[in-house]
Amino acid sequence: MLHKKDKKSTAQNTIKSSKFLIDEDGQGVPKYKIPEKSMPAKSAYQIVHDECMLDGNARLNLATFVTTWMEPEAKQLMMETMDKNMIDKSEYPQTAEIEKRCVNIIADLWSSHSDNDSIGCSTVGSSEACMLGGMAMKWKWRERDNLPTNTSRIPNLIISSGFQVVWEKFCKYWDIEMREVPMEDGKYTLDVEAAIEMCDENTIGIVPIMGITYTGEYDNVKLLNDKLEEYNSRTEHNIPIHVDAASGGFVTPFIQPELEWDFKLKWVHSISASGHKYGLVYPGVGWVVWKEEDYLPKDLIFSVDYLGGEMPTMAINFSRPGNQVLAQYYQFLRLGFDGYKKVQQRSQDVAMYLSSKISEMDLFTLVTDGSDIPVFCWTMKEMQDNWTLYDLADRLLINGWQVPAYTMPENVQDMVVQRIVVKHEMSFDMADMLLNNIGEHLKYLQALTAPTPSAIEAHKPKTDKTAVQACRFHH
Ligand SMILES: Cc1ncc(COP(=O)(O)O)c(C=O)c1O
Repeated sequence: MLHKKDKKSTAQNTIKSSKFLIDEDGQGVPKYKIPEKSMPAKSAYQIVHDECMLDGNARLNLATFVTTWMEPEAKQLMMETMDKNMIDKSEYPQTAEIEKRCVNIIADLWSSHSDNDSIGCSTVGSSEACMLGGMAMKWKWRERDNLPTNTSRIPNLIISSGFQVVWEKFCKYWDIEMREVPMEDGKYTLDVEAAIEMCDENTIGIVPIMGITYTGEYDNVKLLNDKLEEYNSRTEHNIPIHVDAASGGFVTPFIQPELEWDFKLKWVHSISASGHKYGLVYPGVGWVVWKEEDYLPKDLIFSVDYLGGEMPTMAINFSRPGNQVLAQYYQFLRLGFDGYKKVQQRSQDVAMYLSSKISEMDLFTLVTDGSDIPVFCWTMKEMQDNWTLYDLADRLLINGWQVPAYTMPENVQDMVVQRIVVKHEMSFDMADMLLNNIGEHLKYLQALTAPTPSAIEAHKPKTDKTAVQACRFHH
């Protein structure tokens, strides 16, 4: 029989292999296999809780678009309703009713003219919502030309090269050719003329982005709609628009109401957005809405039991937590239009403040200033001998700030930018702390007398550079 002390030292030896955790009795618990015996709830809690402390501080994560703070009442509501499964419409009819209310509230914010019967659903996030929007376009394209499912024609989708990775996945999963409109130096939004030139009878749709992941800018949906109107009336291809409004969908209606980008435009048939970004809900909830019933092919609608009857569903996932949908409704009730407007306006004010201060720094040039969504990025005026923006990103981690640096997409991939996503929990006070930290780290970096590894890499001839992952994989 081992004494506790001995047990501890045995366990401490085993931890060296890093395949074991140590429980509070000093016993080794395997990390990568299910433990043989159970442990007290408190111990399991403590282990997982402690491990999570190694994650970054979510409030200082200026890389993510996803909500990192909600009010205690919202948290309480989410905890209370964590056991509800969104798909069990019959068991949780009120959650289903609340989802329906949310779809209608969102459709109304996006200028739908339906009267409380908008077509759409909640999803796990924008990725699922984009998939659904894209699938509907593919199905409609087949219907348009009466094509069999095994048609030899190859469908295509047109999008700017600033797309988020979900669109690459969508095209891969559904055998669609992705036609990328390249970004140009100095212009990082969709080149509408070039997009129209890429259209043909196999184009299932064009996807403008409201809140480009790389820069935070809006594509010009109105111009796209007008050009598409000309194209469609000339060719009768009737190519629709799906707007990927992952971030902008919950910003524009509140602080840029004059902007024309939503269902008011004839060719915008569907829109998706993330409830867990500027919708202000913890992950994961997203939304997709179609302007009219006709734009969602019947083939994609399935039925689930609902109070002895049936209810249509089009989401890809079956079981899914209902509590994020309830939290979305909480936010709509709690904030109202006015509250959302204040929150988004304040985020934008903080973003514009930060970007104006960064533009005053001699070393940087602003690429965007946060006047679309409250997201902005900057680049170096001139390449430095001894450091790069990657080093600044690393230095900021010392203070806990996550401010990613990354390359822009193909065609402008030589440009490295650094981006800040301002969310409603970022105060002016925090912005000042961040600016101070940036100032301190710049002093340190400017004083370096030898190049950092990233500076050495940056100064290599182009052909010798290691590929750096672009930001489409970050969020
Ligand atoms: C433009 C855009 N579309 C889609 C997505 C995917 O969103 P989600 O993380 O909600 O699946 C993102 C994520 O950042 C995005 O920025």
